[in-house]
Order: sequence, then structure tokens, then C-alpha cells
Amino acid sequence: MMTTPCSELIQEYFHTGTLANLPTQLYINGQWQAAEGDAKLAIDDPSSAKTFTHVSAAQVSDVELAISAANQAFKQVWKPAKGSARAAILNKAAALLEQKADLFSVVEALDSGKPLAEAQGDVSSAIATLRYYAGSADKLEGNSYPLGQGNFSFSSKEPCGVTAHIIPWNFPLSTTIRGVAPALAAGCTAVVKPAETTPLTALMMADIFHAAGLPDGVYNVIPGLGKEAGAALVNHKDVHHITFTGSVATGIGVMQAAAKNINSVTLELGGKSPILALADCDLEKTAEGVLWAIFYNAGQICSAGSRLVVDKSIHKALVALIVEKTKQLTPAHALENPNYGAINSAQQLNKIDGFIKRAKERGIQTACGGHKLETKSGGWFYAPTIMDDVPMDDELVQEEIFGPVLTVQVVDGLDEAIEAANCTNFALAAGVYSQNIDQALAAAQGIDSGQVTVNNYWAGGIEVPFGGNKHSGIGREKGLVALDNYCTTKAITLAF
Ligand code: NAI
Ligand code: MG
Repeated sequence: MMTTPCSELIQEYFHTGTLANLPTQLYINGQWQAAEGDAKLAIDDPSSAKTFTHVSAAQVSDVELAISAANQAFKQVWKPAKGSARAAILNKAAALLEQKADLFSVVEALDSGKPLAEAQGDVSSAIATLRYYAGSADKLEGNSYPLGQGNFSFSSKEPCGVTAHIIPWNFPLSTTIRGVAPALAAGCTAVVKPAETTPLTALMMADIFHAAGLPDGVYNVIPGLGKEAGAALVNHKDVHHITFTGSVATGIGVMQAAAKNINSVTLELGGKSPILALADCDLEKTAEGVLWAIFYNAGQICSAGSRLVVDKSIHKALVALIVEKTKQLTPAHALENPNYGAINSAQQLNKIDGFIKRAKERGIQTACGGHKLETKSGGWFYAPTIMDDVPMDDELVQEEIFGPVLTVQVVDGLDEAIEAANCTNFALAAGVYSQNIDQALAAAQGIDSGQVTVNNYWAGGIEVPFGGNKHSGIGREKGLVALDNYCTTKAITLAF
């Protein structure tokens, strides 16, 4: 396959204001097609706030077509396929994506506003995810059950059917693959509804899967508005599992829609994840860890470390060190590969700014940032912001901001740190920094969250289960446990 290196694609974009051969239509049953009435979405480059392409916006009738195609493909080809055949296709897709990694990285950076290197990381993680679940596709074994003489009982895992995947804009490709790879490995078919602002890489995956030999109808992509295409998808009676990543409010609606059809859901919702800096932590290592926990992807990560819970004995020194480090963050156009990127939309930028304006009116102290940023490229940028010594009941502690805002809570000792960690409705991720293993483990045990990392906030990989408790969600993605989302168990018992 011919590949074009990043540098040529970047040149092309800066010269023409767009890229050639971007997908522009819906992908249904192995065909590219326009939406009913030729409805379209404008696709913007957050780094410049300029529209660089348009994509079809699926209407209810288009969603119907996609689900019908997925249903046919499920029954006729994908459920009956051998696990090893599914594995081969997923492995081939991984290899083809690897060949096209430059193109996918450039498009992802353009569409989302994240720095090129971060987009490259997302593409690598999508490749690893495809390979990981490819390896599982021929190992979905059942059990046998000891009923004694005269009986024989065993179970098999069966794919649950057509699965809906509702994708957010912060990790468009990697979130798509995180759900689709285990679904396809298990024998389910997929209808993917990308976020309004970032549909391109999920659409581009259609060509990759097709070239890898995936039968028509197994992977369908229908960009569109949440309240139109998204709602039609999650309410449909022929969908059997919904994997949703996004806001709590929309997640509640998705769960209600699923309830009508007695469908299962995996909900990966918001977070307000704490990082506990205990009195004995290594200050330098902690400051560096916190910096990237909150400012990677400009804080637009459900599991961002958005609250620093710091022991009062090190509070001033640690905050000063993090503030100092924020000076190395230099925003620029995503394709110039800065270490600090844009906010995905004007709407999200204004939401972040609203939180900070209100906090300032309440007299909360700004240790750094606290305003929108002007850059050479134009676009939607927000200064890396640290809000210091914030009381527990403040909205900066309680609400997800989904931007580059670190909220600092000051505590006295381990018990108070754990109490502060658990003080919100969210329970997604948490980090602990300590040089004392007993203290670190006590914190890890005391924190209510789906995952805890110690001394490296982003430690982990596709092998490790991921998801939240409380309002952060239901179910787990990643790891082998995610396959359960896409399988049902059938028990077969014989008496003789
Ligand atoms: P959202 O939850 O409304 O959107 C996420 C996805 O759901 C998009 O694909 C959207 O089109 C779709 N959607 C919207 N309404 C739907 C409906 N009625 N039925 C089915 N699908 C629907 O979130 P949005 O508006 O993009 O961002 C709002 C806030 O949500 C952000 O400020 C942030 O706090 C949070 N968020 C959290 C994410 C996470 O990773 N947990 C990701 C994106 C946003
Ligand atoms: Mg975009």
C-alpha cells in the first residue's frame, strides 16, 4: 500500500487548507453513501477554527439502513465465522493501520486539535488494541458443569448481536477501536456513531477493515448529530448492546433508551480523578506526573488527573514546582507538534472559561493560567490553569470541567487525603504518589475508583481493565473482561 509520510501531508494541509481523499460520506453495508437529503456536518480544525471539510450527517432512515445491514451481516456471515478467521482479519487490519499510521495521525490531530505526537500515540494504541483482541477471537471458551451421572452440561459464549458504539471527540480513533475490536472479535457486528466534530478516523477505518477482508455490513459508520443519529441508534430494537463514552447526562439517556429494549450497556462517563500527593512523595516525580495527568490533550480526558489532593506539609513547594513546569507548555497548531494542544470546539472552550470566571468571582485563587490563549494559528486554546486551595464543596472540585484546569485540595495526612479523594460523585481513576509502599497501598485500597496507579499516573495498557464506579459509569472496557460486554452465555444440558 502506498503511504505518504507525515511531513508531506502537513505541507499539503498548510498549502491547501485541507487534505485530498478524506472520507465525506456514511459507510453502510460496505458502501459509501450520502445521507438522506444530503445533510452534512462541517468539520473544523480546532487549532485554527477553520472548516477544512464536510461529512454526511446520518438521518433516521440512514441509521435504519446501517442497523439492518449489521443485522444481516451478523446472522449470515459474522456470527457463523470461525474465531480464527475473525482473528486473521483483525490482525490484517492492525497491519494495514500500521502502514497508514502517518495519515491517520495527521487526520486525527487535525480533527481533534491534539498535538501530532499525541495523535501518533492514539494510532499506536488502536493498532495494539486490534492485535490484543485478535488474539482473543479464537479463545472464547465455555465451561462444563458437574451434574453427575446421567447428565452432561456445558456452556458456550455467543456474540450478542448488533452493537452500537457512541464515540466522543477527545479520543476519536482509539475509543472507536477500544469498543469495536472486542465486539468484532466476539462475533458481533458494529454501528459506530462518531462525535459531531471528529468523524474522520472512524470513517477511514472502513477502508482499512474492507482491505483486511471484513465482510460488508460488519462495520458501519454513521456520523451525525447525537440527538438524531445517536438517539435513533440507541433506541433501535435490533441493537443488542450499547457502548457509550461521553457525558453523564447523555449516558443517562442512553441507559434509559437501552432499558426499553432490555439491552446491556457499557457506560464510560465523566471523571474528576484525584492525584494524592502524600507527604513523603518525590516532589519532582510527582510534579512531572501531575503536569501530564492534567495537561495531556489539554485536559480533555475522562480520566485526567484533575484534582491534586496534596498534604499541607508539601503543598506550597509542590504547587510552585508544577506552576514552574507549566511554563514549558507551548501551544501551537497540532501539526506543528507542540507539547500543548487546542480545545476541540468553541463550545467546550467557553464551558471551561465559564467555570474559571465563576471561580474567580467566588474568590478562588489562580496559581497560573485562568484565561483563553491567543496563538499564531488562531483556534481554540486555553491556558494551562491551576486553581489553588479549593474547598471540598466548590463546583471546581465537584464538576467535570474537561479542560486544562487542575483543582488543588489541601489535606492533613492519609485519612483526610482518602476522604478528599472520595468526595465527588465520580469514581473513574486515581493516582497516588508516595515513596512508602504501605501508605500507597492503603490509599489504593481506600479510594473508590475503577483504577488506581502508583507513582506514574498514566501507567497501564490495553491489558488492564478500565471503567468507573458511581456516576463515572458501568462496566469495564479493555482487558479480557471487555469481551463479556459482547457475549452472552448459553448453557446446554443433556439428560440421558
Ligand atoms: P455528549 O455525551 O453529549 O456526546 C458524546 C457522544 O454522544 C457524541 O457522539 C454525541 O453525538 C452522542 N450523543 C449526544 N446525544 C445523544 C443522544 N441523545 N443519544 C445518543 N447519542 C448521543 O458530550 P458532549 O456534548 O460532546 O460534551 C459535553 C461534556 O461531556 C464535555 O464537556 C465533557 O464534560 C463530557 N465528555 C466526557 C467524555 C468522556 O470521555 N467521558 C467525552 C466527551 C465529553
Ligand atoms: Mg474536528
